[in-house]
Amino acid sequence: RTLRIGLIPGDGIGREVIPAGRRILEALPTSLGLKFSFVDLQAGFETFEKTGAALPDVTVETLKTECDGALFGAVSSPSTAVKGYSSPIVALRKKLDLYANVRPVKTAGEKGVKPIDMVIVRENTEDLYVKEERTFDDATGRGGKVAEAVKRISEFASHRIATMAGEIALRRQKIRDAEGAASSSIHSQPMVTITHKSNVLSQTDGLFRATARAALAAQRFGSVAVEEQIVDSMVYKLFRQPEYYDVIVAPNLYGDILSDGAAALVGSLGLVPSANVGESFAIGEPCHGSAPDIQGQGIANPIATLRSTALMLEFLNEEEAAAKIYAAVDANLAEGKLLSPDLGGSAKTEEVLQDVLRRL
Ligand code: NAI
Ligand code: MG
Repeated sequence: RTLRIGLIPGDGIGREVIPAGRRILEALPTSLGLKFSFVDLQAGFETFEKTGAALPDVTVETLKTECDGALFGAVSSPSTAVKGYSSPIVALRKKLDLYANVRPVKTAGEKGVKPIDMVIVRENTEDLYVKEERTFDDATGRGGKVAEAVKRISEFASHRIATMAGEIALRRQKIRDAEGAASSSIHSQPMVTITHKSNVLSQTDGLFRATARAALAAQRFGSVAVEEQIVDSMVYKLFRQPEYYDVIVAPNLYGDILSDGAAALVGSLGLVPSANVGESFAIGEPCHGSAPDIQGQGIANPIATLRSTALMLEFLNEEEAAAKIYAAVDANLAEGKLLSPDLGGSAKTEEVLQDVLRRL
């Protein structure tokens, strides 16, 4: 099988880490029967300054017509609105209907770190992020303005995202079984936690909760334990007892907040991967931004990108290849000798990559 992969480095350290993703794909053992071809694509703030478009049409077209998956680095967003500029990754998610944002947060046996192994599955198309806002004069006589926003939850999107969470829970169990490894989860069976605030928002979050429950009641999820938790108490527990969680499914806004919070649990943004996933396409994307403070020094941690590359492969049904990359990365971290500066080491991007490639 040959997979064609779009490479979108974007801005800043995106250009230093995306090449690492390409190189680990090229270094996969030929015994897997997998080949790759690559196409370089543009997006980001510098692209916007050069061409007037942050996400050129040719980038979207090439992904749609030629590619099986893609790697996306990071883009710089100006902190004040620039006319005509909007985030290319948000646009890409829409144009390719990448309805799920999947973010594994996992330790790798690092010394002195409590083991965590969870995946946050965030709905990516609706909720408050439909951006239907309006501002109007306060009509109650108090003066001033009032602003409000639509929070849209559909049965369709809630069902689809909960189903994906269930599939991920089953796949994780399959991998644990295959490894014969004691799972680092404290539970004896896979578990999905549904996040909501339906005690207050009984219609919107109520629909999400009920629909997710119904989706996860399907027969094929019979081995998956399903529980639910109110989002605020979940934040508390996530910080107090992160090892408790296996798969978390959440509407867009809660998922956004929970996934950045969870990323803080593993020590560096440079470690945390994500994938934007649709029916038949996946984009791997490190969680970090373009890191202007370290750009050009060759010291960016490539591990978030290497893990994002593996995650992309998982969703392209290449689990065996993905597992090899995860194992090589975890071995580098567990040994803890060749670490980049964000982890307290002094290794360069290239040296970390070389160490992981050697283990692969
Ligand atoms: P950031 O993630 O770029 O950096 C935060 C801190 O983490 C910095 O100190 C940085 O040096 C460090 N860091 C991040 N990734 C690292 C890596 N791989 N290795 C070592 N250290 C790493 O977030 P920040 O500084 O708030 O934003 C910088 C720019 O990135 C902004 O323009 C922002 O809009 C954009 N951004 C883009 C994102 C995306 O493309 N998905 C996500 C977050 C921010
Ligand atoms: Mg976020």
